[in-house]
Amino acid sequence: MKIIYWSQTGNTEKMASLIKEGIESEGKKAELVQVSEVSLEDVKNEEILILGCPSSGAEELEEIDMEPFVQSLEGNINGKKVALFGSWGWGNGEWMLEWESRMKSYGAELISEGLTVQEYPEGEDEEKCIDFGKRIAK
Ligand SMILES: Cc1cc2nc3c(=O)[nH]c(=O)nc-3n(C[C@H](O)[C@H](O)[C@H](O)COP(=O)(O)O)c2cc1C
Repeated sequence: MKIIYWSQTGNTEKMASLIKEGIESEGKKAELVQVSEVSLEDVKNEEILILGCPSSGAEELEEIDMEPFVQSLEGNINGKKVALFGSWGWGNGEWMLEWESRMKSYGAELISEGLTVQEYPEGEDEEKCIDFGKRIAK
């Protein structure tokens, strides 16, 4: 499985590596891939799309790499299982709600609610990320 993410200061990247840990604890393989390194073609055959991006702009996806990638999914992920995650700072998680409904409007099946963590995942939040990975792997 590919965990495709964008992260500026490492918080979402840390979530990605904990999710990887969770997936691998269930005996599956996971690889971390920066969104700038992938195109739609690379993910078409993935059974599950695992995407991470922090709240950026004003409750938006990061605009240079993640936003165009997500846009490219429109019309190409009907029925695909998707898991979303990301870190936020001071908002109310609105970016995730919008991201979820956008993926649903593209026909994706969200395997759970998007996983959100404030800033760097520590303590309980670390466990949440690992559990999220386990759920994805099952
Ligand atoms: C330019 C910029 C815009 C941001 N906009 C928001 C926002 O709208 N809402 C929010 O909750 N946090 C916002 N944040 C905070 C980040 O989402 C937060 O620091 C997050 O942990 C960064 O994740 P990263 O380390 O993976 O880059 C913003 C941060 C930056 C640098």
